[in-house]
Amino acid sequence: MFFLGIETSCDETAAAVVAGDRTILSNVILTQLEEHKPYGGGVPEIAARSHLQNLPHIVESALAEAKLDFAELDGVAATAGPGLIGGVMVGLMAAKSIALVHHLPFFAVNHMEAHALTPRLTNDIDFPYLALLVSGGHSQFVAVAGANDHRILGTTMDDAIGEAFDKSANLLDLPYPGGPAIEAAAANGDPTAFDLPRPLKGRPNCDFSFSGLKTAVRKLIERPDTRLEEGSTVADIAASFQAAATEIAADRTRHAIGMFKQIHPEGKTLVVAGGVASNKTLRRELQNVVQAADFNFAAPPLNLCTDNGAMVAWAGIERFNINESSPLDFAPRPRWPLDELGSGSQG
Ligand code: KG4
Ligand code: ZN
Repeated sequence: MFFLGIETSCDETAAAVVAGDRTILSNVILTQLEEHKPYGGGVPEIAARSHLQNLPHIVESALAEAKLDFAELDGVAATAGPGLIGGVMVGLMAAKSIALVHHLPFFAVNHMEAHALTPRLTNDIDFPYLALLVSGGHSQFVAVAGANDHRILGTTMDDAIGEAFDKSANLLDLPYPGGPAIEAAAANGDPTAFDLPRPLKGRPNCDFSFSGLKTAVRKLIERPDTRLEEGSTVADIAASFQAAATEIAADRTRHAIGMFKQIHPEGKTLVVAGGVASNKTLRRELQNVVQAADFNFAAPPLNLCTDNGAMVAWAGIERFNINESSPLDFAPRPRWPLDELGSGSQG
């Protein structure tokens, strides 16, 4: 069984072919970074136009690399939200057209669910598990009990963790996307150089808040005695920021595991997914928390943590396996909370 997956909800134009036995036959990703760099962040109109221009040959390359024709596919999946509406429409329309022309079942995939299910593509993991989704748009804990059974345990009250990385990087004049840039700069810095706040640390629930941390970075940079032109200062601020952000995530995870155990006492695994999951300090901190709680830890390989088509194809396969295809009139959903998943078409 072969599935085509299409991802266009943010700044990656991506298509992949994944087999039912979890073999990734192709995973083609075009990053629009260069086009957005001058603006210090993703620009929706530029993203949509670029998806429109590039998606046809990205899909063709994905099929060519997999050595398959459209006719040999068993299903087509595309991200239907949440994300930037223009890009989502491009991917969704392409997938629907392919499905219609080649008489294939179509699957409208929730982007965050695709991230949350990726560890099942790369590792042998059974439901239920606790997922920590950390990306540019989300920071949330989800109890994943099935391909269509998700309960959000905690989420961010303001910025997403990836957004905090991106905005702090911007303040430090580091390139976009900020996450990898901060991680690289932090490698040469002292994480204890500056005492930055850890909002919500120790609170009983598992919600996040990152805006206070970002503001503290801004105030630190604005101090007259802060010399950003000295590279070591940038490295020290980056390292101190990363230490604070990952310590918050570790603390919130400790609480989330406690909440998850109450609902699913049989659950034993934490999976972390989304772009920020490629941060090595975060992975190390989480591993410590998981060990102390006698849980297992799973994270997709780095290249499957950021946006890609393979995770979308896999989410389609998971849906196929529970007999849930989507109607061809499924409308794009720029906002689509994980616990509002359903197979019906919605506006
Ligand atoms: O999941 P993703 O590729 O796209 C969505 O937001 O859906 O995540 C992108 C986010 C960006 O905020 C980026 O700065 C962050 O993930 N990121 C990282 C790292 N690599 C990517 N954050 C921290 N450390 C990294 N190594
Ligand atoms: Zn993502």
